[in-house]
Amino acid sequence: MNKTLRKAVIAGNWKMNKTPDETKALIEEMKPLVKDADCDVVLCVPYVDLYAALEAAAGSNIKIGAENCHWAKSGAFTGEVSAEMLAAVGVPYVIIGHSERRQYFGETDVTVHDRVRAALDAGLTVILCVGETLTQRKQNITMEVIATQTKIALAGVSAEELKNIIIAYEPVWAIGTGETATAEQADEVNGGIRALIAELYSQADADAFVVQYGGSMNAKNAAELLAKEHVDGGLIGGASLKAPDFATIVAAASK
Ligand code: PGA
Repeated sequence: MNKTLRKAVIAGNWKMNKTPDETKALIEEMKPLVKDADCDVVLCVPYVDLYAALEAAAGSNIKIGAENCHWAKSGAFTGEVSAEMLAAVGVPYVIIGHSERRQYFGETDVTVHDRVRAALDAGLTVILCVGETLTQRKQNITMEVIATQTKIALAGVSAEELKNIIIAYEPVWAIGTGETATAEQADEVNGGIRALIAELYSQADADAFVVQYGGSMNAKNAAELLAKEHVDGGLIGGASLKAPDFATIVAAASK
């Protein structure tokens, strides 16, 4: 199958940036710039900005997501937000397993799996992040690391449920560092993820599966990365906080 048959997804990851008022202003600025996109456009924002984002994006082609969710439906988990709560406020997307969660907040492959399960059960679409550290790349175990993260996260996920999952390949060494994987490196790992999906599910499922690249993707390098066969979009951090840059990336992903 040719990549032109997959619809690219460009998702912003705002991380811990923007107040509700700033959220409204940025989305208002983005709306006219991305309105003709021929790809899916998603903005993942902090929990407190979700209402403002949903309101500002209403009626536009921008979809809203959260940056994490808990695995339990409710309970004694101070400071956490459940997938059900996100669904209840009308949020369709959620990022799970971002490397900053793994690095700074003790996320493990198992808790990532549990959060994926909860998000699917709540009817959310998951942007599942996987990626190797620089040490792991130097040790030539990139694909093993990615395969382990992916297999654990997807354990028990049916082929039907897989339609609600996107994988974002994000090499840890490329996130927020200005250092981007080359288009070839991104394509190689993204292709490896697709081959793994074919092995775990079917070739047809793999052909339809969206695999994004993330890690210092910006207005300058997006077109080259997105031209690669297995790069079906991007998860964009820093550049998603600037409307013209984000719009340039969206335009590059639009066929
Ligand atoms: P970056 O972040 O684009 O700022 O490198 C990407 C991400 O962490 O999702």
